[in-house]
Amino acid sequence: MTRRWLDQVETLAREALPPAVFRYVAEGARNEISLGEASAAWDAMRLAPRVLRDVRTVDTRTTLLGADFAVPLGIAPMTLQRAADPGGEVTMAAAAHLAGVPMVLSSNAGSTFADVASTGAHWWLQAYVAAERSDTVPLLESAVAAGAEAVVLTADTPLIGTRYSLPEGPGVWEVADPAWVGANATTPTGADPESRAKAMDLGPADIGWLAETTGLPVVVKGVMRPDDARRCVEAGAAAIWISNHGGRQLDQVLATAHCVAGVRAAVGESAQVYVDGGIRSGLHALIALALGADAVFVGRPIFHALAADGGAGVDRALREYADELVESLRLAGCASPQDARGIVAPTPTAGPSNRPETRL
Ligand SMILES: Cc1cc2nc3c(=O)[nH]c(=O)nc-3n(C[C@H](O)[C@H](O)[C@H](O)COP(=O)(O)O)c2cc1C
Repeated sequence: MTRRWLDQVETLAREALPPAVFRYVAEGARNEISLGEASAAWDAMRLAPRVLRDVRTVDTRTTLLGADFAVPLGIAPMTLQRAADPGGEVTMAAAAHLAGVPMVLSSNAGSTFADVASTGAHWWLQAYVAAERSDTVPLLESAVAAGAEAVVLTADTPLIGTRYSLPEGPGVWEVADPAWVGANATTPTGADPESRAKAMDLGPADIGWLAETTGLPVVVKGVMRPDDARRCVEAGAAAIWISNHGGRQLDQVLATAHCVAGVRAAVGESAQVYVDGGIRSGLHALIALALGADAVFVGRPIFHALAADGGAGVDRALREYADELVESLRLAGCASPQDARGIVAPTPTAGPSNRPETRL
């Protein structure tokens, strides 16, 4: 069998992107310990598959926040998509629509809400809440008016964690075209829109405030702890998104793979549970579902696929995830994602990683 497109996209993206942008996508916080552990944590999990089950038909359709999707998979919010493709988020959204998955739009997107909405994709707005809450309202209102179906509150970013850019050459915000970001900004932005003052006093009340302001389901992204997950649900969150921001914020945090079972147990069925971070295959997705997630989200590989071959690249990458998930479900004796619940041990097995990237 030929190598997966997903195993090639990083190399192709490196060729296609300005070095500072490629580094920005790849980087993690400080010593990049959490970044390095993310995929290895999924690799270390072991399944106990079912047998003697009818798997002639595997139905991956999943309902997330009231909308139906083809697979329990989505595109995580990422800024700078217009550095990868001229259409940026619009190209990404069109590919998401084709694959039947949700697209989460970064609040620092370079494409307007209206243009993203025109693709017909189901899209959710990722929001940082500003220190001055009212500064966030125009952004929220224009997203609602354009058809956003949920608001994803990024809760792990009271400030941008320190990352080290390339030792030589310009930093990403020095090479970034201003048109690559800030298309929906309602307040003046500097060269680096990520550095705008973010609330350092976010609390459970902000969840209710977001729900009230937008009338949309609120997803809290960046939750790692069962007690925090419970607090979010009590405050009205419709879903918990387990994430360590792709290892880009606080270093030496747990791998998200190790958080899923605890968060699911804490919230029961009172909220949906999503997870991202290092999910590099349909098998990783199956493991997340087995641990209790309703859906998984993917970041860097999809960005790389966009840079490597535009919308066709994203389509191919999403198809590979979906096809691998179907095969893995079938081999595990599961006719649906829901059947996968519990077929994995909640703690990992020690052992070296043997993913293809590390073998070559
Ligand atoms: C280039 C890039 C930009 C990102 N921008 C945002 C953002 O604007 N808002 C946000 O909540 N998360 C952002 N993230 C984090 C992703 O949403 C996601 O949590 C993470 O990338 C998932 O891990 P993975 O890349 O290993 O799949 C960004 C990640 C990358 C790689």
